Amino acid sequence: MAIITDEQNKFFRLVTKNTEYQMKADNFGVLKHLWYGKHVNTDMDYLLQYPEISFSGNIYEAENDRTYSLNTLPLEYSCEGNGDFRVWALSAEHPDGTRALDLRFADFEVRKGGYAFPGLPAVYSDENETETLEVTLEDACSNICVTLFYGVLEELDIITRAAVITGGRETVYLERAASLCLDIPRGEWEWVHFHGRHAMERVTERAKLVHGVQESSSVRGASSHQQNPAVLLCSPDCTETSGECIGAALMYSGSFSAKIQLDEVDQTRLVMGINPDQFRWELRSGESFYTPEVILSYSADGMEKLSHNFHKVIRNNVCRGQYKLAERPVLINNWEATYFGFDEEKIFNIAKQASELGVDLLVLDDGWFGKRDSDCSGLGDWTVNENKLRGGLGKLVERVTGLGMKFGIWFEPEMISEDSELYHAHPEWAMTIPSRKPIRSRFQLVLDMTNPEVREYLFNSVSAVLKSADISYVKWDFNRHIADWYTPTLGKDNLGEMPHRYVLGLYELLERLTNAFPNVLFEGCSGGGGRFDAGMLYYTPQIWCSDDTDAFERTTIQYGTSFFYPVSAVGSHVSAVPNHQTGRVTPFESRAAVAMAGSFGYELDLNTLSDDEKNAVRGQIARFKKYGELIHNGLYYRLSDPLSDKVAAWEFSDGKDALVQGMVFRTAPTSLQLLVKLRGLDPDKNYRLDGTDFTASGAALMSGGYLLPRTWGDYVSFELYFRQI
Ligand code: DGJ
Repeated sequence: MAIITDEQNKFFRLVTKNTEYQMKADNFGVLKHLWYGKHVNTDMDYLLQYPEISFSGNIYEAENDRTYSLNTLPLEYSCEGNGDFRVWALSAEHPDGTRALDLRFADFEVRKGGYAFPGLPAVYSDENETETLEVTLEDACSNICVTLFYGVLEELDIITRAAVITGGRETVYLERAASLCLDIPRGEWEWVHFHGRHAMERVTERAKLVHGVQESSSVRGASSHQQNPAVLLCSPDCTETSGECIGAALMYSGSFSAKIQLDEVDQTRLVMGINPDQFRWELRSGESFYTPEVILSYSADGMEKLSHNFHKVIRNNVCRGQYKLAERPVLINNWEATYFGFDEEKIFNIAKQASELGVDLLVLDDGWFGKRDSDCSGLGDWTVNENKLRGGLGKLVERVTGLGMKFGIWFEPEMISEDSELYHAHPEWAMTIPSRKPIRSRFQLVLDMTNPEVREYLFNSVSAVLKSADISYVKWDFNRHIADWYTPTLGKDNLGEMPHRYVLGLYELLERLTNAFPNVLFEGCSGGGGRFDAGMLYYTPQIWCSDDTDAFERTTIQYGTSFFYPVSAVGSHVSAVPNHQTGRVTPFESRAAVAMAGSFGYELDLNTLSDDEKNAVRGQIARFKKYGELIHNGLYYRLSDPLSDKVAAWEFSDGKDALVQGMVFRTAPTSLQLLVKLRGLDPDKNYRLDGTDFTASGAALMSGGYLLPRTWGDYVSFELYFRQI
């Protein structure tokens, strides 16, 4: 039993294999957070403190007791106007303009199985894998209710959290409605977040918490390249393999906020959910507002264990469809090979060479439709450009599939070019503010995904293409952020609903299309990894990780991505040198080693390679297929930090075998050989390095390590396969 309740004392314990979470409603009905950490098997109420901190609000029922304050107690869900001056999870404007709320325990329910809310992605599972606790709190004055949902996946050490806000006596406007409030009254914490920019996503940054609020957020209408909706709190001594950490990943692809506050008495609060800066939601009596879900995990054994928990839950309980655990096709994408300059012969020749070398799938990227000879025009017109693809799409698909390859195609459904037939027919479908000139980005505007007519058009036009030929894969791109928040479908008082309604519209369309085409592999993309989040992974089991295909830079991007997201979710390709984003030249094998730590493919014209390089491609594909099971189903270990070490090294292991790959950055003369220490092996077993006579015990390889071969030149990769004997 993962959820243990003590009804009389209103005490709730969520117990997973290695973790325990506790909360309790006190005599005032205030739901206090007691614990999230290792198993303790004790009511942790005894650790609560009631300090008298001046300028803290005291609830009226506390009478003359100045020590009872919601400003200092750890709470399960904080709200505005009750004397708690820390970050609020919930704020609402009442009809009289006031904003106070005071949530007290009303009810609870425990049941088998998970939960899901209308129109939102959610962690799913077998009935026996999850138990759900619902705790309802009520504001007596307004009758507004908040039901806190806790989904407990015992085996995976995962707890999901979300909130449902139900309207009370009168209509109110929600001004913030977070998914998660997590108070941690004990200990010193640091935080890790993942920042970046286009073509440099998810750079890991770890910092000591400072007093006040630190935030990871987006106001871009997408989860963004700039900050990722996943954060980590860790003890200062936390490493990959030791120390405490808590991870929280929001299943949401729009504007988000994760605020971490270190308060006046050194307590920590994390509030995570839809970004309140772009949110105002009319909540009528009896109606419910559903927040997106947060996936939470705790590890007492460092970040590696935490990452493994997230990788498992995302692979097994977030990603869906026939590809979620299946071997992914090795693909060739024509983007960096041709950009917009192609015709059917050029594409066919790329496919032909690729098929001869063992590639499974050709992806025809941007430029195949409408008047799309550059990025200035054509978006929205999802019909083939026969000036480029003479004979039509069907003919090209037939020729490519005739080679024994699968065919995939690029769309950017949410966008519209002013220079397009769609814009001339429906200018009102583009998001623009009537009294202003629109903001352009990559010359394009965004379609109003809150409008059902737009979604219907997109469903029909994308479906028509997918039905017109034997298409097995879709790349779903999104190449700008949203500034012009206006829709004629909502009145002026409700425009604050638009950013969230946009995401709901996107999810509805993705749900419809993925259901209509269950055999198609959908890959997410947003100028690379600008919408790399657990929400998108519910619809698209892999996401193009970054537009930066430079193998050296990719080690940093993929390192940051790996804290929450599994390797199978990471689209990663071998591209040409000098690299198109950085001009850097890295060896061919190094580019392959880095791309193999993902869902593997190529993004160059293989016809331009020498015979030796073509043979290398054959070998790389064969190796990826040989190791594919271990790479995607094994556990992933970060063996070094590419931001600070001389080497990027990672390992895939199932405990029996281990594949260690990586790249050396700073080759130095007259120095000792670099060393990597393996992890996840059986210390008592011996391992042989493939292709050599070298053997060592798991204990030796993990404690002592393995000396990397000397390298000549920079960015040289290594690949070591240790087999248990
Ligand atoms: C951005 C993507 O990340 C690229 O791979 C490519 O598809 C371009 N868009 C096409 O416009």
